Amino acid sequence: QELQMNLEQIEKGGYDHFMLKEIYEQPNVIKDTYRGRLHASTGLIQMAGVEDNLEKFLNADRILIIACGTSWHAGLVAEYIIEEFARIPVEVEYASEFRYRNPIITPKDVVIAISQSGETADTLAAIKLAKEKGAFVFGVCNVVGSSISRETNGGAYTHAGPEIGVASTKAFTTQITVLTMIALRLAKAKGTLSNSDYFRYLQELELIPEKVAEALHSNTISKEIAEIYKDASNCLYLGRGYNFPVALEGALKLKEISYIHAEGYPAAEMKHGPIALIDEKMPVVVIAPKQGHYDKIVSNIQEIKSRSGKIIAIVTKGDVQVKELADHVIEIPETSDALSPLITTIPLQLLSYHIAVLRGCNVDQPRNLAKSVTVE
Ligand code: AGP
Repeated sequence: QELQMNLEQIEKGGYDHFMLKEIYEQPNVIKDTYRGRLHASTGLIQMAGVEDNLEKFLNADRILIIACGTSWHAGLVAEYIIEEFARIPVEVEYASEFRYRNPIITPKDVVIAISQSGETADTLAAIKLAKEKGAFVFGVCNVVGSSISRETNGGAYTHAGPEIGVASTKAFTTQITVLTMIALRLAKAKGTLSNSDYFRYLQELELIPEKVAEALHSNTISKEIAEIYKDASNCLYLGRGYNFPVALEGALKLKEISYIHAEGYPAAEMKHGPIALIDEKMPVVVIAPKQGHYDKIVSNIQEIKSRSGKIIAIVTKGDVQVKELADHVIEIPETSDALSPLITTIPLQLLSYHIAVLRGCNVDQPRNLAKSVTVE
């Protein structure tokens, strides 16, 4: 028993939980994921799976992204990035919905299947269906030799290393890293980004690991805020644009490890109903980085404040305006709007981790959950 305990301690690298260890591994594993693929100085992106199938991507009528859970949220981020950078239409589908609705697929479609484990039954079934209908299927997986990585026609691995915590963290950020490099490669081939923008994004992507490391410093403030809201019964997460999927992901993290009901929402949608939920007991996490609809998100915050909601804002370092409105602010380093999900997700991971720990939940193995849903 003693030996087993020690082995686990060694595996956790001194962290109390695998999830916290994996949150802190993100600067290194994002670097591992772009190493050998991202050459910011020469403007080269080298991903064999993409190069070998470049024409299919460039001639695609649309790109269909299929995934589940956190991987589906990474797909939503990729929708915004690929459409913005490469101007190729992207649709994101839950694998479980896609496979049962007799979807319209043609050989002109490129499907990207995202799966950390590479064993998710719904995603695997959706891939088989898409292939039957003639689509080219590209996989983004974290487990080498997994069923999905073998079923797809091509692919690119994330290099996150084994993710033990059931709640996905480093898989999410490395998936976005791979998908961003794909979007940039396609943009370069199509000439849909100016040379200066292209190089600017490459250089900014190269800086992301150190910015994630800096965002990890929000661990202390996240823990303090967790202590205030650990007994909340409901929580809202709001974001716009690239950070709308991050709001969904932040809510999923809180739900699955602390069992607090949480909902992610596009910030502007609040006035179409959900704002009726707001009261002084309701913590509202608002993702409000300087880049990206800042003025609009400020007015969304004012709407919530006027209904006495408690506001936890994720802001760019040095922010003043939101700081005056929010009850709590968590500062993160500045980055471009399109790359901001890689940074804004960090405090949300830490916040949900600390709330779950304070509630005495089993952070690494939450109730009712499996790390890979290999059954329907
Ligand atoms: C995320 O925290 C969950 N563990 C879950 O939603 C997961 O993302 C989903 O089951 C998909 O798993 P996959 O990436 O291995 O396919």
